[in-house]
Amino acid sequence: MHLKERDRKLIWHPFTQEKTAEPPIAIKRGYGSYLYDTDDKPYLDLISSWWVNVHGHAHPDIAKAIHAQSMTLEHVIFAGFTHEPAVQLCEKLQPLLPGFSKFFFSDNGSTAVEVALKMAYQYWRNQGVLKRSIFLSFDGGYHGDTFGAMSIGVKSGFHTLFSDLFFSVLTIPFPATWNGDGAIESKEAYALEVLTAHLNTNGDTIVALVLEPLIQGANGMKMCRPAFVEQVVHLVQNYGILVILDEVMTGFGRTGTYFCLEQINIIPDFVCLAKGLTGGFLPLALTITTEKIYKVFWDEPLNKYFAHGHSYTANPLGCAAAIASLDLLMQPTTIQSIQAIHHTHTKEIVHLPAKHKRVTGTIAAFDVENPETLKRKCLEQGLLIRPLGNAVYLLPPYSTTVSELEKAYEKIKNILCYLLK
Ligand SMILES: Cc1ncc(COP(=O)(O)O)c(C=O)c1O
Repeated sequence: MHLKERDRKLIWHPFTQEKTAEPPIAIKRGYGSYLYDTDDKPYLDLISSWWVNVHGHAHPDIAKAIHAQSMTLEHVIFAGFTHEPAVQLCEKLQPLLPGFSKFFFSDNGSTAVEVALKMAYQYWRNQGVLKRSIFLSFDGGYHGDTFGAMSIGVKSGFHTLFSDLFFSVLTIPFPATWNGDGAIESKEAYALEVLTAHLNTNGDTIVALVLEPLIQGANGMKMCRPAFVEQVVHLVQNYGILVILDEVMTGFGRTGTYFCLEQINIIPDFVCLAKGLTGGFLPLALTITTEKIYKVFWDEPLNKYFAHGHSYTANPLGCAAAIASLDLLMQPTTIQSIQAIHHTHTKEIVHLPAKHKRVTGTIAAFDVENPETLKRKCLEQGLLIRPLGNAVYLLPPYSTTVSELEKAYEKIKNILCYLLK
């Protein structure tokens, strides 16, 4: 029986209407920027496999690091124990995140956010501040599928069915922008007006603001200006509100710098990382915070401590993969690849017959009328894309060469021109 039929019998896929979806593409192997199906047809992975892959598939350095670690220590409970890969990973990350000194491990983007939400809430409770119980987030923001993450993503459109179960969240409009956008000033002014109104009425009851900096991923790779993020964060910080930066999608070079944080002049209280952390090899996440937060949990046994943890917390194999991936990220050739991808996006996107063209770092996006037809035709021609609504985005691994990306743009342009005829 073919793999697809065996899959059909047993497996329930994520974010998939099983009744109407096309059968899944059965992938046999990956190498570099390509995935190969069971007939050995190559697909250029233009979405980095749900935004996790950083250096290309099956990178030998990361594979070797995992293998070596698995022969030494595959796992140990992380309460009351520690190990070299976990400590080394945090030592390597800390210089990239100045001002942050405490690293809390979990398993995925949703849990990284969940941990930040709980820490922020408990930060106030531990100090006897009971009136802060509302969170602040952006319309369209997506932060994961666990209940806390869904609550703050209440206006993402993904979780509406569960909204009766959510905690209180106020939202701010997201001023999405693109090349040649003439209305951005008024969109930002309106968002700031809504925020100011929230702060005037609820400023001292808000626990924290949660935001995806510069780019809302799942909302269709919507981009905003760094100065707007700075204004928002400075305004909320005037009210003592904590700030949680969800860099789950944007971390590890995606926006052109190691983290978005380098492009925005703010000091948040939490940074959430996952996806690219292990280069796409293993699930691992971090919620990173400051001494200011940490010391509010510092007390007698079982008093004020953070009662949260997962079985696979700081899994040594995941940490070894993350160290190897970080070492690759910091190589000058990787930085050059990130810049080359950015330049290619900027140069090529202008030729596409599409709307709302936008680029930030290694991410390019545009809106089209017929995204599903484009997706189908791209797959036929060996390009893996996965539109979000009308938004089509290209978010390739850094192993993708300029020539591969230029050829992909050429194919996409031809398909779009054909569809417009
Ligand atoms: C910004 C952001 N936060 C959190 C998440 C949730 O991450 P995960 O799917 O690993 O739970 C995602 C996933 O797409 C995301 O884009």
